[in-house]
Amino acid sequence: MSGADWLADAVLYEIYPQSFADSDGDGIGDLPGVIAHLNYVASLGVDAIWFNPCFASPFVDAGYDVSDYLRIAPRYGTNDDLVRLVDAARARGIRVILDLVAGHTSVEHAWFQHELNASGPDPLGDRYVWCEEPPAAGWGSDLAGTPAWVRSPGPRPGYYLKNFFDAQPALNFGWTEVDPAEPWRDGTDAPGPRRNVESLKEILAFWLDRGVAGFRVDMAFSLVKGYDGEAAQRRSAAIWREIRDWLDVSYPGTVLIPEGREPRTGQRLAFDADFLLVIYGEHASLFDNGGAGLLPFHPQRPAYFDADGAGSTDLFVGAWEAIQADDPGRLVLLSSADHDFDRLCCGPRTAEQLGAALTFLLTWGTVPCLYYGDEIGMRYVPGSPDVEGAVCNPTYNRAGCRTPMQWDRSANAGFSTAEPDRLYLPIDPDPERPTVADQEDDPASTLALVRRLTALRRQVPALRTRSTTEVLHASYPFVYRRGGTHVVAVNPRREPATAQVISIDTAEVLVAQGLRLSADTLALDGFGYAVLAVRTTAAD
Ligand code: BGC
Repeated sequence: MSGADWLADAVLYEIYPQSFADSDGDGIGDLPGVIAHLNYVASLGVDAIWFNPCFASPFVDAGYDVSDYLRIAPRYGTNDDLVRLVDAARARGIRVILDLVAGHTSVEHAWFQHELNASGPDPLGDRYVWCEEPPAAGWGSDLAGTPAWVRSPGPRPGYYLKNFFDAQPALNFGWTEVDPAEPWRDGTDAPGPRRNVESLKEILAFWLDRGVAGFRVDMAFSLVKGYDGEAAQRRSAAIWREIRDWLDVSYPGTVLIPEGREPRTGQRLAFDADFLLVIYGEHASLFDNGGAGLLPFHPQRPAYFDADGAGSTDLFVGAWEAIQADDPGRLVLLSSADHDFDRLCCGPRTAEQLGAALTFLLTWGTVPCLYYGDEIGMRYVPGSPDVEGAVCNPTYNRAGCRTPMQWDRSANAGFSTAEPDRLYLPIDPDPERPTVADQEDDPASTLALVRRLTALRRQVPALRTRSTTEVLHASYPFVYRRGGTHVVAVNPRREPATAQVISIDTAEVLVAQGLRLSADTLALDGFGYAVLAVRTTAAD
């Protein structure tokens, strides 16, 4: 079975390892903690867990600054714990996907320390990009609002190129153009870049040999640098193509998921899906209500899944249809939220409003990815403290979506036995915060709805990714037909909404809240949703 085959039918669950379950009372989540909660994860009906980086790291960027790719960070456990976790998950039909930080390391990585402590270029080829003086323009100017070049703390003189924070030096995968005037620009076939490509393969092989099913690749298209950003992305994609060719022979069935959309190069695509990222406008047009601050990446617009009913699904549907038109059958991942921005329950959006969003997420033709805690409606906690690089700028605080999982009403919401001031992040202080225990046996809970929807997705092929998706009514309610046999309708706004789209006589209601069917009219109360089996064709 190819990786894409199982991914197509999968529901993913993203676990932020430091915030899920702390087994040893140090205030930080760990792998044994996850193992202890695998029955819960299985009960959600998910098929794969994506872990954010859990490798050795000084945690300047919460683990996206890796100092040893081949070692689980001691705070999370050991390599053996990871193998135990993979086996225990597999026994429950769940695959494990790790996060590969391919474009940069930590300054503490031995590769960087080696080059930092040298007096000049490595005769085997530099793994990082060093220059004596940053160029005055282009790559000398700005990356994400801060200088791209960082002065070397020595002994090696000069500057190194970073990829994100200063403590994350960019690995050298070469440049799209070389120029004798800027000798620090290696070609992509130079010894340094080639060493790095081979090292990526070794890292992948190391973890695949331990049973993981694949990788989400951080900043996947940031490998090759260039003055023409698009050309550089295409060249990065060619490296992934090379890696995919090697995987197809050595580790067939491995899933590779990029952070973001894979650039089209005319070649066979290297990744198994496109990811419509939380920070992309398409995702934001559905869910981002500004409650987590303002992202600089796209214009703020009303979110479709908000009570005011001022949003639109057009941008999202347009992007999804464009991908399908480009590459029929191409998988597209869509998450409820992720570790980089908000949560489904954010700003003015309340728990009662989540049913419509979750029904959409788990019945649309994308591959759903649930962010831990969204299945019980955990909220983005505003004002959470800056931990491990969570605050990127005054309006961009990622900590609010990274707070500890809320298991029950015991101390620290059952996340940890540590003193509260030792927790990775404070628990949501709201006394009404949702917990797994409170929702566990409540058939009206968000958790019960998620379980019902994932079970339906498993039972009904028409609701999975590979069947057709046709929009029948684009505004409020949003109504679409799946596989010709099922109709889904969601009305995330406060006001009721109706659509004349379906002959109701033959409808079987599989899931519904606030649904009223009469003659040819489908009506949903505010915050209503419905999944129907139909045997007739929809009206025009
Ligand atoms: C990750 C972030 C991280 C950054 C740098 C992103 O894409 O999702 O959490 O800070 O890459 O590695």
